[in-house]
Amino acid sequence: MAKILLTEDEDSLRLMTRTVLELGGHQVFAYPNGQLALESFEEINPDIVVSDVSMPILDGFGLLDQVRRLRAGAVVPFLFLTARSERSDVRFARNLGADDYLFKPYDAEELLEAVAARLERRRAIELFESRQAHLQTIIMLANLIEARDEYTRDHVQRVQALATELGNALGWTPEAMTILEYGSLLHDVGKIVVPETILNKPGKLTPEEIEIMRSHTTVGAKIFENVPHLREALPYIRYHHERWDGAGYPDRLEGENIPLEGRLMAIVDFFDALSSERSYHQGRPVPEVLEMIRQGAGTHFDPVMAEVFISLQEANMINPESQETGE
Ligand SMILES: [Fe+2]
Repeated sequence: MAKILLTEDEDSLRLMTRTVLELGGHQVFAYPNGQLALESFEEINPDIVVSDVSMPILDGFGLLDQVRRLRAGAVVPFLFLTARSERSDVRFARNLGADDYLFKPYDAEELLEAVAARLERRRAIELFESRQAHLQTIIMLANLIEARDEYTRDHVQRVQALATELGNALGWTPEAMTILEYGSLLHDVGKIVVPETILNKPGKLTPEEIEIMRSHTTVGAKIFENVPHLREALPYIRYHHERWDGAGYPDRLEGENIPLEGRLMAIVDFFDALSSERSYHQGRPVPEVLEMIRQGAGTHFDPVMAEVFISLQEANMINPESQETGE
């Protein structure tokens, strides 16, 4: 159900339009002119405006112009109901930011379809915008963690690009790929509790330091378990250090008991860590790291995923142009 602000000066037409929209399941606030509609706009905060063009006091174009100046009205869908004779005004309406127009006489079905189409488009835009905002917050968080770990600069972004490439090659669904997009950025979020002296230590870690380092999987998972819209990223965070043979951490899960997201992350994380420079080693050549992954297939890594990953990277070595950069 949507809240619809309706303006129409002709009483019978207003009543008919109102009835159609209400039968379509919407909540309708109807006014005989633009001025009255405008005065109620902010209180109603409608999901869509359906407006006649010619009306006394404030006409449809005037209403659109005023509504676009309101904070809540800047993006509200605007649907004009216009007589054929006003067709030339359509361009003018478009310039003002009208979304659509319906020529009178229209039937009930036409009206409901036009309203539904506008509402659907608005919802799609809102979803996209909230996803973008959400992703920017995550990138900021990932950069914050990365900044503490001087030798893993760009690691999270590279890992995200590699993970995206592998997820696509494995035929993951768009929904799974959306979660992958931020899950892969967040996989090391728990490192926020690991002291920088341990993160950046050039030599070998002591057993205690190893314990602290390993806790980034469980701590990271704990941070997000109560955040509803980020909870789906949890498998990336908690399970990216599990091993196919059950010798990983933190839960020592084995084979297919390890969530797919963790298995995928383990491969791309390993690849990037070994092929790039770290505080404790130089970056190794790509073919050497791919050989290590091949050796680790079925012990360290999911053998099927490892094979797909190796073929992808080998193809990238032959044709570097095809490589995804994640930019
Ligand atoms: Fe990690």
